[in-house]
Amino acid sequence: MTNLTIRRPDDWHLHLRDGAMLRAVLPETARHFGRAIIMPNLVPPVVTGAEALAYRERILAALPEGAAFEPLMTLYLTETTDPEDMARAAASGLVKAVKLYPAGATTNSDSGVRDFDKVRGVLERMAEIGLPLCVHGEVVDPSVDIFDREAVFIETVLDPLRRATPGLRVVMEHVTTAEGVAYARAGGPDLAATITAHHLVINRNHILAGGIRPHYYCLPIAKRETHRLALVEAATSGDAAFFLGTDSAPHPDPAKEQACGCAGCFTATNALSVLAEVFETAGALDRLEAFVSLNGPAFYRLPPSEARITLSKGAPVAYPDKIASGAGPVTVFDAGFPLHWQVET
Ligand code: DOR
Ligand code: ZN
Repeated sequence: MTNLTIRRPDDWHLHLRDGAMLRAVLPETARHFGRAIIMPNLVPPVVTGAEALAYRERILAALPEGAAFEPLMTLYLTETTDPEDMARAAASGLVKAVKLYPAGATTNSDSGVRDFDKVRGVLERMAEIGLPLCVHGEVVDPSVDIFDREAVFIETVLDPLRRATPGLRVVMEHVTTAEGVAYARAGGPDLAATITAHHLVINRNHILAGGIRPHYYCLPIAKRETHRLALVEAATSGDAAFFLGTDSAPHPDPAKEQACGCAGCFTATNALSVLAEVFETAGALDRLEAFVSLNGPAFYRLPPSEARITLSKGAPVAYPDKIASGAGPVTVFDAGFPLHWQVET
């Protein structure tokens, strides 16, 4: 096969930032994706409906002329989130999900949740109205090994939380482990999981063996190879519980290449090329559309895109190493192998 036409993909987990960085990275996503779930971890975070509306307007204003891209807004869950404001923002169609960051888990998560009893009312309201909770699933306990934080979170936080809130619809964001895959697969229609492009191609050796590579450092951190293989199996299986959330997370190079570098891989530019290569290698190109264009809208109860894109296979594609942003260069994800598929323009 050298050509593949599929419905226009969506990205169910994306960091666009704000200001100069937003203007630099938004065209990279809007070129290929029709919609994206926009993460709210700005400084300060997007907590209220009014803040989400204002952020949405800044995103629309930063879109290149003629781009057909719809930002799907989220609210950042805090211990003081007002359930009524959240419900109004959802009822108006503005907000499509609420994001749960355990406080301290990752970039700009300080306003996140420490005491889950304090968010019980919001979660119960979300279960009533069917609004999905997007979960960053890692415990923050410093005594838990960073490579175990996802599995421990599922057992000690996520599973009790779901049992205590029947009907709550949950997206396990960026799963990175076989345990995460197994839990999502067994969770029934109210549970789904996003998988990034980068976690399908890197394991922890890529970050740490033969030198430390900050551009492969993200959270949750890539795990050992057996986990990567479980992720590939899940993504390429066609199972509706799994869909793409790139977690494309730009940081200027100086913020990543330093003694304490930021977490995040910037993949918006080439995520679809990486995915096509992964699916082709797995003999599952016929399931790429389910993963990038069908399973996500089905979970979010939105229609799939009516637009189409065509991916074509040819000589290896040269992507830029970096894109310029007002805040400095941002390194584009390097899959570490040639990418033969590209989206036709
Ligand atoms: O690697 C990551 N980067 N993981 C996250 O959870 C946050 C993100 C960011 O905002 O940079
Ligand atoms: Zn993220």
